[in-house]
Amino acid sequence: MERDEIIKALSPDTDPAPLFALADKVRRETVGDGVHLRGLIEFSNYCRRRCYYCGIRAGNTRVRRYRLSPEEVLDCARTAVRLNYNTVVMQSGEDAHWGPAGLAAVVERVKTETGLPITLSVGEHSKEDYRLLRSAGADRFLLRFETSDRRLFSMLKPDSDYDNRFRCLAWLKEAGFQVGSGVMAGLPGQTAESMADDILLFKKLELDMVGIGPFIANPDTPMAGAVNGTLDLGLRMVALTRIVTRDTHIPATTAMGSIDPQGRQKALKCGANVLMPNISPTEHRVDYSLYPGKICTNEAPEHCAGCVDAMLKSLGRERAEGYGHSLKI
Ligand code: 5AD
Ligand code: FES
Repeated sequence: MERDEIIKALSPDTDPAPLFALADKVRRETVGDGVHLRGLIEFSNYCRRRCYYCGIRAGNTRVRRYRLSPEEVLDCARTAVRLNYNTVVMQSGEDAHWGPAGLAAVVERVKTETGLPITLSVGEHSKEDYRLLRSAGADRFLLRFETSDRRLFSMLKPDSDYDNRFRCLAWLKEAGFQVGSGVMAGLPGQTAESMADDILLFKKLELDMVGIGPFIANPDTPMAGAVNGTLDLGLRMVALTRIVTRDTHIPATTAMGSIDPQGRQKALKCGANVLMPNISPTEHRVDYSLYPGKICTNEAPEHCAGCVDAMLKSLGRERAEGYGHSLKI
């Protein structure tokens, strides 16, 4: 698809039904009907950055900070095994407490004990640290670039550097990770042009995974009261990403499910093929409050497992077999 066509397809004046149908067809032909379940462990909500949109930004005194112990992370990973999830995603804020060696040690323990593929989502680090984490046994890494619009990026992430974000993505690939990135849809000031560029960039970066969710204004951040992104825009982005990138793994994200009770189901019907059920301890979930209205904050891991299986059944889909590695390797 050309840039102009993508821009047109993102317009609320364009009927999305044919787009969604095409994306569903491409999804079936490229990645099949199976849905990969990735157990999400939110292991620390400490963060050194002050991203304007994010509830766990440094300096937000309303958030109760927590950090799981290595043993607690391991317990979550055991829960993943028990629930027959074939992989875990370890996500946190940019928490310096661990240090690269500390984090690597946790990765190694999870890997040794469960044998599962491990995805990290822990932000920007040096090339050397990425290498260390890869050697410790992490297989994949998620680092959204959030928006391809350089100006918007520097407004939203005042203490991050646009070029460094992309350098990190290149380092991750060099270190041998399967790499995921992504964006928020419907950020204040985000144009259809820049979202078309987001999608073309997903393709150019040859990503293995692409996560997209609507922006949801958090009242405890400088973006309190901003207009939220919409489910419709998020779904258009998912559909176009499927059509343009073809064989990437695309999650029906928690933000999709939070902005609309049917959000994840709808995403699975227009291009998505992954779900990331939460396996964090219930007591801490409410504190991993990136945005308000986040689903699953009162649920136990078992509950979410039952919920996603019921969701798949209702959609006529089933859990995918295997580890869900990149289809590009
Ligand atoms: N609304 C929607 N998504 C958000 N994220 C962070 N804050 C928000 C918000 N207010 C997303 C970012 C980040 C991911 C972990 O969560 O895209 O990369
Ligand atoms: Fe957690 Fe539905 S996935 S309650």
